[in-house]
Amino acid sequence: MIIPAPAKINLTLRILGKRPDGFHELESLMQMVGLADTLTIDDADTLIFTCSEPALESEKNLVVRAARAILSRLESPQGARIHLEKTIPAQAGLGGGSSDAAAALLALNEFWELRLPQDELINIAASLGSDVPFFLDGPTAIARGRGERLESIFHNTICHLVIAKPTAGLPTPEVYARLNAPKLPHPLSEEQPETAAMLRAIAKKDPELIAQALVNDLEGPALSLLPELFPLREKMIEAGCLGVLLSGSGSAMLGICPDDKTAARAAIALRNDFPFTWGGPWIATR
Ligand code: C5P
Repeated sequence: MIIPAPAKINLTLRILGKRPDGFHELESLMQMVGLADTLTIDDADTLIFTCSEPALESEKNLVVRAARAILSRLESPQGARIHLEKTIPAQAGLGGGSSDAAAALLALNEFWELRLPQDELINIAASLGSDVPFFLDGPTAIARGRGERLESIFHNTICHLVIAKPTAGLPTPEVYARLNAPKLPHPLSEEQPETAAMLRAIAKKDPELIAQALVNDLEGPALSLLPELFPLREKMIEAGCLGVLLSGSGSAMLGICPDDKTAARAAIALRNDFPFTWGGPWIATR
């Protein structure tokens, strides 16, 4: 069984405050993109995990943790050989590890014919990381809470992007810690105006409006931690992007392009200076 594990970008990300549990309450419009890792699952007597990047081949990998979380719920033992082919860079704000974990949950549920209900998969996913539940469904959703409460958004707008990253990554907890967000006295549930503006821009299928509606409260802290992001942003604008934004907690930046040719040309232009660049469309329907 071969399944893709797509990356995500955050088209909007508003941080509403710091919660008593230490996480930040947020609202974010999340969107899957064509960039993806690949999971391959075959028969085996025990759980065997291999990865194209040997440094990631450990019990700590979210794929292994996802598989073990499922196994702990079963009465009879199961085995599988899981190979993860990495394409999505780590510490990039593209949700690579989270997507791999969600793909493993979905794939093993099918491979072992378990028929675990979606609710249970969501609970396991949320225990693995704030972004993991999004990858069980997608391709577009508003995430709330710490990222695990999801409202699916249906649209058929295609948008072409370029994604690029400096060599250094950014650890998510460090970026959040720089925010100094105010303590949140109570949960907030009203839709943020920035989310509404982005949804209108997507509905109008207008890349110019989508570029104008980009917002990410983690961008300031990320720029102060990693100044290489400033020249990256400049080069992306020079390469034809209508708007550029940090994805999640970085260090990848996404650029909205007017069309597919601009996205392809921008990716080639940026590749000389930035080792990871990707150009292509987001995923409109699954
Ligand atoms: O849930 P996940 O493991 O992805 O979170 C990694 C870290 O990012 C957390 O330990 C926390 O420091 C920060 N975080 C946060 N608020 C969120 C999501 C993540 O403070 N909503």
